[in-house]
Amino acid sequence: SSVVDAKEKHKDILNVAHRGASGYAPEHTITSYKMGEKMHGDYIEVDLQMTKDGELIAMHDETLDRTTNGTGQVKDYTLEEIKQLDAGSWFNEKYPERAQADYEGLQVPTLKEVFETFGKNANYYIETKSPEVYPGMEQKLLDEVNEYGINKDKLLVQSFSSESLLKMNELDPSVKLVQLLEYTTPAELTDREVQTIKEYAMGIGPNSDMIDREYVQKAVQNGLEIHPYTVNEKEEMQKLIDWGVTGIFTNFPDLLHEVKKGK
Ligand code: G3P
Ligand code: CA
Repeated sequence: SSVVDAKEKHKDILNVAHRGASGYAPEHTITSYKMGEKMHGDYIEVDLQMTKDGELIAMHDETLDRTTNGTGQVKDYTLEEIKQLDAGSWFNEKYPERAQADYEGLQVPTLKEVFETFGKNANYYIETKSPEVYPGMEQKLLDEVNEYGINKDKLLVQSFSSESLLKMNELDPSVKLVQLLEYTTPAELTDREVQTIKEYAMGIGPNSDMIDREYVQKAVQNGLEIHPYTVNEKEEMQKLIDWGVTGIFTNFPDLLHEVKKGK
């Protein structure tokens, strides 16, 4: 029946813990990622930046200023220097109502530490950020995926840069890719775009606020997964699920879990 279909549909929606459970804990810390798992996130979302000495770290911005007590460009600091920084106190200052004493002094994790903590069979959804600033980022990511024996059936790599995704595809065609898209006006998906993206990616990740039912259905009917970002309210989650999205990035994986359960 259609009621069963609707329930089945809900179960399959990927719950992507965006920067971890970043509504509750400082983004891109091991603490935030662990909380994401606990809150029924299916995937840990990791944004990548690269240090001066070529180490991949989990951080959203190209600069240290917003999410640590450091300042300046990530690429100008060694890993050792970045490890001295406090990646948690900013959260307590910005969100006093969600502050926790043990967020103080949290470190910026390396990708290696993320892999060591969550293991080979966790679901990682990794974004190559600013790949034009970090030549060799894709190879380095792939080397670490291979070194840690990460299960590639579960791995997803995402980027706004199609060049970066094409490079990943060339380096290892078995890695599943998602093309991120950012719209500033109501979004449309042309046949040509669908065909181009399908050459290398299994799905798309558009911002959630410029898409409509038609957009979602065009993607799905053409065999593309569609994971809008970043959705933090239950009504919007429900609307997107009704439209047929196959996953959602959220800072509040517990809320998406409730929506999926019909609560
Ligand atoms: O990766 C999906 C979404 O996270 C893209 O935006 O800026 O949060 O990385 P951003
Ligand atoms: Ca991201």
